[in-house]
Amino acid sequence: MGEVRVRASVVGLGYVGLVSAACLAEWGHEVVGIDADEGRLAALDEGQLPFFEPGLAELVAGVRSARRLRFAGPSPAAIGSAQVVFVAVGTHDGNGGWQTGSIRRSLAEIVPHMADDSTLVIRSTLPPDFIQSLPWLVSALRRKAGRREIPVLTNPEFTREGSAIRDYMEPDRIVMGIGFDPHGRGESMLRKIYRRASAPILVMHAADAALTKIGANLFLATKISFANELAQLCETYGADVDRVVAGMAYDPRIGPSFLRAGVGFGGSCLPHQVSMTVREASAVGLSVPLLAAVEEVNTRQRETFVERLWRASGARSGARIALLGLTFKPDTDDLREAPSLDIARALIERDAVVVAYDPMPRARVTAAATVAGLAVVDSATMALVDADAAGLVTEWREFALLDWEALGRLMRRRVVVDGRNALSPEAMRAAGFAYSAFGREGTLIAVDVGQPAGPAPLAELAEDGPVLRPALAFDAEAADTLRDVSVAASMFDREASSA
Ligand code: UGA
Repeated sequence: MGEVRVRASVVGLGYVGLVSAACLAEWGHEVVGIDADEGRLAALDEGQLPFFEPGLAELVAGVRSARRLRFAGPSPAAIGSAQVVFVAVGTHDGNGGWQTGSIRRSLAEIVPHMADDSTLVIRSTLPPDFIQSLPWLVSALRRKAGRREIPVLTNPEFTREGSAIRDYMEPDRIVMGIGFDPHGRGESMLRKIYRRASAPILVMHAADAALTKIGANLFLATKISFANELAQLCETYGADVDRVVAGMAYDPRIGPSFLRAGVGFGGSCLPHQVSMTVREASAVGLSVPLLAAVEEVNTRQRETFVERLWRASGARSGARIALLGLTFKPDTDDLREAPSLDIARALIERDAVVVAYDPMPRARVTAAATVAGLAVVDSATMALVDADAAGLVTEWREFALLDWEALGRLMRRRVVVDGRNALSPEAMRAAGFAYSAFGREGTLIAVDVGQPAGPAPLAELAEDGPVLRPALAFDAEAADTLRDVSVAASMFDREASSA
C-alpha cells in the first residue's frame, strides 16, 4: 500500500484528541495537535501527558521524534495549512447535561481560517439536536469570513480508555457522518485518512452517526445494569452470576461482553450519556423508562456496596475501611464519575475512617483533594493495616495478585467486599476471609460487631437490613472444570482483562 500522507490538525488535546493525533501520526500523516491551554502545550512539549493511557506517552514520543506530530496554539497558520481539521473538544457540562459552548467557540475560532479545499471533521460526541444546525453554523462562519463552503463531517469515536490506541488503530468499524458534503470531497478525504485501518466503513447522515455513537454507549450501559439486576436475582435464588453469564454467553445473540456485575459503570461517557439522554428526553416530553432504570440500577449498585461494606466493617462509628481502587476502571488515572468517590463520601458520612489506595499516583492525589476526609495511602498494605473491612472498587490486577493470606493478618478482621467480582471466592475463603461480592455464590454479609481478628462468621441479616441468603453450595471442582472448558468464560476473561 503506497504512502498517503495527509496534513491534519486535531483541535482539543484531551483523551479523544491526543489519542487521535498520535495515532494519525503513527499512520504516517503529518499532524498538528492544537490546544488553547498553554500550560498543557508546554507540558506536552516536554513529553508530559495530561492523563495516563497505556502506550500513549511512548507513541507520542515516537511520532514527535519522527517529526510527524507537533503541538501548537490555535493560530491561523496551524489551522490554515491543514487539509483536514478534526475537532475533539468536550460537550458535556460535568453535571449530567450537554453543553455546546466549547464547540461553538472552537468552530468560531478555527472555521474562518480553514483552507478552501480543506475538510472539517467533528470527532466530539455531539448532542443529537445540535447536528442539524452544525452545517448551517459552519456555512455562516465561512460566509462571514468571505470564504468558500467546506465539507462538514462527523467521525464519532468508539475507543475505550485503557485500550484507546488499539481501539483506534484496529477499530471494529469507522463511522462517517455526512453533514454537508455535496461533491463527496470530505468523504474521500476521510477514506484517505483511514486507508491503513482494515474495518468496515459506514457512511451515513450525521444525525445517524450521532445516534450510532450514543446508542452504542446506551446499550453498553444497559447491559451492565442488566447484569447487575441479574446478579440480584442470582443472590436471591442462590445462583452465581459469573457462571450464569458464562452459560448465557454461548448464545451468539447475547455474547459475554459488558455483563460483569459490580459497583456499576463510571467514567466520562456512559454515566453522562445515560443521564443526558434521560434529561433531554424529559425536556422534549419523551418517555425513556428503560434508560431511567439503567441509571437507577447504576446508582443503586453504589449504595448497595456502601451498605454491604458498612455492615461488613461492623457498622460502627470509627470503623476503619480500606478502599482498593479509585479510578473508574483499571489502566487509567481517570476519576470522572468514578464510583469510588461516591462510595468514599457515603462511608465518611457514616463516620467511617476510609483509607484508600490506587496504583495511579495522579488518581491518589486527585481523590485526596476531591473527597473531604478521605485518607489516601501509597500501598494496598498500608490501606489494609488495621482495617475492619476492605472494599475492592476497581479491579486492578495488582489486587488479585496480593498475598491475601499474609495481609489478612494485618487487618483487624478478615472481611472483603468485592465490588468487581475480581477476586477468587475460593482463594479468599481459603485465606480465612469472609468474602462477599455481587451475585456470586455465598454473597451474604453480616459480621458480628466486635468480632476479633480472624475469619468472621457469615450469618443472615434479618430485621435491620435486607435478607441476604447464601447461594446454594456448589461443587468447587466441578465449577473449576466448568471454567476451564467454557469458551464463553474464557471470552469473558479476555474481555475483562482488555476492558
Ligand atoms: C466507553 C465505551 O466503552 C467506548 O466504546 C466509548 O468510545 C467511550 O465510552 C466513549 O464514549 O468515549 P470508557 O468510558 O473508556 O468507554 O469505559 P468502558 O470500558 O466502557 O467502561 C465504563 C464503565 O463500565 C467502567 O466503570 C467499567 O468498570 C464499567 N463496566 C464495564 C462494568 O461495570 N461492567 C462491565 O461488564 C463492563
